[in-house]
Amino acid sequence: MRILIIGGGNMGATFAKSFIRSHSADSKKVMILEILSEKIEALKKAKIGQVFSEPKECVPLADIIILAVKPQSAGALFAQMKDFVDKQQVIVSIMAGVQISTIREGLGATKIIRAMPNLPAQIGQGMTVYTSTDDVTRIELVMVQNLLNTTGKAIFVSKEAKIDAGTAISGSGPAYVFYFINALKEAAQKMGFSESASQLLVTQTFKGTVSLFEQSERDCKEWIDMVASKGGTTEAALKSFGSNHVHELIMQGAEAALARAIELGKMP
Ligand SMILES: NC(=O)c1ccc[n+]([C@@H]2O[C@H](COP(=O)([O-])OP(=O)(O)OC[C@H]3O[C@@H](n4cnc5c(N)ncnc54)[C@H](OP(=O)(O)O)[C@@H]3O)[C@@H](O)[C@H]2O)c1
Repeated sequence: MRILIIGGGNMGATFAKSFIRSHSADSKKVMILEILSEKIEALKKAKIGQVFSEPKECVPLADIIILAVKPQSAGALFAQMKDFVDKQQVIVSIMAGVQISTIREGLGATKIIRAMPNLPAQIGQGMTVYTSTDDVTRIELVMVQNLLNTTGKAIFVSKEAKIDAGTAISGSGPAYVFYFINALKEAAQKMGFSESASQLLVTQTFKGTVSLFEQSERDCKEWIDMVASKGGTTEAALKSFGSNHVHELIMQGAEAALARAIELGKMP
């Protein structure tokens, strides 16, 4: 199985490294197509797969083609590669907001998988939501799922609309978490902790809490009740969050991200 990644930027390079490091793909069978000369040089120097600059040299050789260019570069890319695409090839797009119908029209392909990864894929802790057209066989889907799993975890959704929902939750999610970390870190600094101590207090609290949650069967509300004793400090913070409608505001933020994902998907 030969894999071609188009776009050797942040995500494309992350994917190539993950496939090779996990031994899911032999480095001789991972190809990267990139147009930026500095990136081509950097990829060659880092010895990440075989690097190409012309679609005609690599597109016909691939069994799986991963589209990892920015959404605004999709139209130009489709025009450059369309003539070399074969209907048997599996096209995996990670381009935010680019719909399956656009890829089908742009490339004349029918075996299409649309996936939305997130930033922690860079360290093998990503979360990907993906869907596929009916033409993708079960075996092909398993092969792609195995590749996606090398960057973290992946879940299949049967409806493409759920990709927009996944974008609003796990795709944009890392920014929400950074937002909360940053606010709590600023509070720690305001209370007199140094920058580095504040960072440690907050990041270790996040890590520990997520690990505890993952290892238990309790839901969030039960855990909150365990931490927040009556008349205590946690209860004071939670009352403040409640009266300021923080829960509703977070939900509204995610809804705004979903609305924007849908809007972007309708753009030409
Ligand atoms: N970064 C994330 O956390 C994240 C999360 C989920 C999904 N995504 C999706 O992943 C995709 C890639 O994002 P990224 O952050 O990796 O972008 P990036 O760093 O800009 O990488 C894309 C690379 O592809 C190159 N390229 C553009 N057109 C090309 C063509 N026709 N042939 C070959 N290479 C071409 C770009 O060159 P130029 O700069 O010259 O255009 C650039 O080097 C995007 O569609 C994004 O929506 C990213």
